Amino acid sequence: MSNPIQNKRIVLGVTGSIAAYKAAILTSKLSQAGALVDVILTNSATRFITPLTFQSVTGRKAYVEDDLWGSEGHVTHIALGHEADLLVIAPASANTMAKLANGIGDNLLTVTALAATCPMLIAPAMDAGMFSHPATQTNVEILKSRGVEFTGPMPGHLASGLEGLGRMTEPIEIESRIRFLLGKNGPLAGKRIIVSAGRTEEPIDPVRFITNRSTGKQGYAVAQAALDVGANVTLISGPTTLTPPSGADTILVQTAEQMLNAVINTASNADALIMTAAVADFRPRRYSEEKIKKEKVFSAIELESTADILKQVNLLRKEKGFPKHVVGFAAESNELLENAALKLKNKGLDLIVANDITKKGAGFGSETNRVIFLFPDGKKQELPTLSKYDVADHLIQQVTAWISKE
Ligand code: CTP
Repeated sequence: MSNPIQNKRIVLGVTGSIAAYKAAILTSKLSQAGALVDVILTNSATRFITPLTFQSVTGRKAYVEDDLWGSEGHVTHIALGHEADLLVIAPASANTMAKLANGIGDNLLTVTALAATCPMLIAPAMDAGMFSHPATQTNVEILKSRGVEFTGPMPGHLASGLEGLGRMTEPIEIESRIRFLLGKNGPLAGKRIIVSAGRTEEPIDPVRFITNRSTGKQGYAVAQAALDVGANVTLISGPTTLTPPSGADTILVQTAEQMLNAVINTASNADALIMTAAVADFRPRRYSEEKIKKEKVFSAIELESTADILKQVNLLRKEKGFPKHVVGFAAESNELLENAALKLKNKGLDLIVANDITKKGAGFGSETNRVIFLFPDGKKQELPTLSKYDVADHLIQQVTAWISKE
């Protein structure tokens, strides 16, 4: 599998709002992800941005209202509406939402929306007062009750100079939501996958903690790859600068103990648990409520072990039969296969993903990874250097194969 946006037909409606310029950024992102984007501008949208901008980005015709009235007009709106995998309206003005809620088709975009049978995603953009107006709120409710998806509006600075709820969701987030909507009926639809990611931080005092170099990139890629095939994903993440993928149910934790609790609470009916997290193996025995002053030089911090989450999961699994499949990761700097094989056995895993963090293009912070899959029967699968998403994709294909055999 790959990004579910690839080769999909997306109709993007652009309406009259200053945020129309951001629609060009969204169009560019979707095109780069391999979508075929047909843009329809309303007359008001053309006051803010030209069809040429979109045509230049997509290499395809961008439609305007006049296209409804030409000899091809009828064919155009029916074809656009029928062939689309997703209809996105971003930015959506209060006026266009009112028309959609009431079934009005008075321009190419609204007529196309009436003809479309695919899912619809709306990203409103307007002044805060217009969005909170009871008429707009009623229209939003009507559209939601028909299954229309919404993203935003977001709070923040508005073109009117005021602050409020009315900003269009940022293009990168709309893209992430589109990816989620296009992937959600994939082969793992209805299956629950828990992914742990990143590092844990074990506090010493209010300003200091013990941690490791994990950035969470590999775990977030696994969560994305699972969402891309339609799984219900719970992402249990340690501290990171990354943004969780749209559609993941994200639980943010700090310590190993919090991660253990989050995993145990969610794993009891999961189809698979994938532990990519670099969990701290030890923590300070005592936490100082006050910042430890440098005058009070301390020569040693007394440490104690944290619980091994996968071992706890193994006990749960023996008792309850869940999670049905368990995958661990092993980041090693020496004797990769021996160490990984030992962890596979001791932690009762179905698969361990072993990587040598000293190799070029692998390990913490890197954009790529080089891994070997090890199975309990001794089978090995060595992958070339791949992007972290492609490693995740291979892993999710394996999980999909297990689940589909059940
Ligand atoms: N893991 C865990 N709980 C811990 C430590 C690790 O569940 N307290 C999981 C990790 O998420 C990973 C696997 O165990 O999937 C292997 O982690 P790793 O840090 O490589 O192994 P450790 O068991 O911690 O052994 P060591 O650090 O000595 O190599």
